[in-house]
Amino acid sequence: MNIQLVNKEISDIDSEVLIEFITNSELKDHKNAKILNSAGFKAEQDSTCFLYEKSTLFCGVDSKKSDDLRSACAAMIKVLKSSNYKSAKISVVNKSAIKALVEGIVLGGYEFNEYKSEPKKVVLEDLFLASTDIDFGNLQTIFNEALIIANATCFTRDIVNRAPQEINPQTLSKLAQKLAKENSLECNVLKEDDLAKESMGAMLAVGRASVHESALIHLAYKPKNPKKIISLVGKGLTYDSGGLSLKPATSMVTMKMDKAGACAVLGMIKAVSEMKLDIEVHAFIGAVENMVGGDAYKPDDVLISRSKTTIEVRNTDAEGRLVLADVLDYAQDAVKSDYIFDFATLTGACMIALGQYTTGLMGHSHKLKHDISRAGADSGELISSLPFNNHLKKLLKSEIADISNTASKPYGGAITAGLFLDKFIRDENKNRWMHFDIAGSAYTEAPWDCNVYGATGAGVRLMCEYLKDIK
Ligand code: BES
Ligand code: ZN
Ligand code: ZN
Repeated sequence: MNIQLVNKEISDIDSEVLIEFITNSELKDHKNAKILNSAGFKAEQDSTCFLYEKSTLFCGVDSKKSDDLRSACAAMIKVLKSSNYKSAKISVVNKSAIKALVEGIVLGGYEFNEYKSEPKKVVLEDLFLASTDIDFGNLQTIFNEALIIANATCFTRDIVNRAPQEINPQTLSKLAQKLAKENSLECNVLKEDDLAKESMGAMLAVGRASVHESALIHLAYKPKNPKKIISLVGKGLTYDSGGLSLKPATSMVTMKMDKAGACAVLGMIKAVSEMKLDIEVHAFIGAVENMVGGDAYKPDDVLISRSKTTIEVRNTDAEGRLVLADVLDYAQDAVKSDYIFDFATLTGACMIALGQYTTGLMGHSHKLKHDISRAGADSGELISSLPFNNHLKKLLKSEIADISNTASKPYGGAITAGLFLDKFIRDENKNRWMHFDIAGSAYTEAPWDCNVYGATGAGVRLMCEYLKDIK
């Protein structure tokens, strides 16, 4: 399917269907009010009504604001994709609508059909977005960037959605190398021997029972004279069985998504390089599979991390923080960056705290939190801050090692996980670091907003929005 922004009056565009977004109050005075009313259409948010004789698809919205347009557009594209029309056109009401429409179409129309023997046939070929804005050039730039970001989000979704027998640390490394080649990025993959040389005892322990070797993937996008240097770190658990602290059968299902942080940072560096932003971006991925076996790491083990901090393992299912402890430590040595952001499906507790739609944001710098929250609002992703405090920090105390990988109380589990990571952030980087818990927002089994079943690509739109305007 091809989406195009065209500098024409909508009436001058030749296409089979006209898409019209309409609010309930606009409906009353609409020239087709009577017939829409007979069809039972009330212009409720995300409802649609096809008037075949008018070749028009009406889409209900609560308002013409981005969030409502994006969601309605996602509902619209599903209807259009299941029709037999080849082309459709939409009038762009304002500048901010452009991004919402692109996201609604690309992300709401996304389907993962890799494993279906007979993928659905889609007749729709062309979607035209029409505008005669005097500043059309600017609109075109917004459109191009929105398309790059939406496609990068789908790229992330595609990897997360792949089955765990297909994506393991090795195949994930191959995908990263392929991306590096296509987008002219630097790429270095550390194998287990290298990880041992780096004394990454925490990360290595997690992957020990897997038949697949763990890997640390480092990608870099380096334009000339960058105005900032950013490090992105991703949790890449290609499968999280829980290890010896085995997950219950029903909780294990969907744990292929425990690589979503890694896939998100791949999507981010892809988008940044395609938008040619003048910032240097590094992506560090801890790619590991958490399995059971005679060689598995155990509750009661004491691990020596790369930073030499010793960690008492009390639960092998709290493995993401162990992997990130070593990758964060490595990343801080590898690059002196202005900011370091990690993305991880880290805790079920984050979902309990914020609901499954919202990413949890943790860190020390109020200014950074504020800037990121703003970008979040502009990106259409939901994000909310979870505050650190010293009382929760004490819950990570271990009697026999420097820190325990599990807090002594379950309350505030997303925050204690964030505080565990904080232990591996050096003093000089405390105000440069933010942790994003995407456990809830990265994957869904029911569609919402522009998300469909499966991976959502959480983090990609948010970070791209932040990085585009970074000062
Ligand atoms: N990968 C999980 C977190 C998760 C849970 C992500 C549900 C998405 C959906 C993580 O490794 C984990 O198992 N965390 C434990 C931590 C606990 C043992 C302290 C959890 O959340 O239960
Ligand atoms: Zn786990
Ligand atoms: Zn996990």
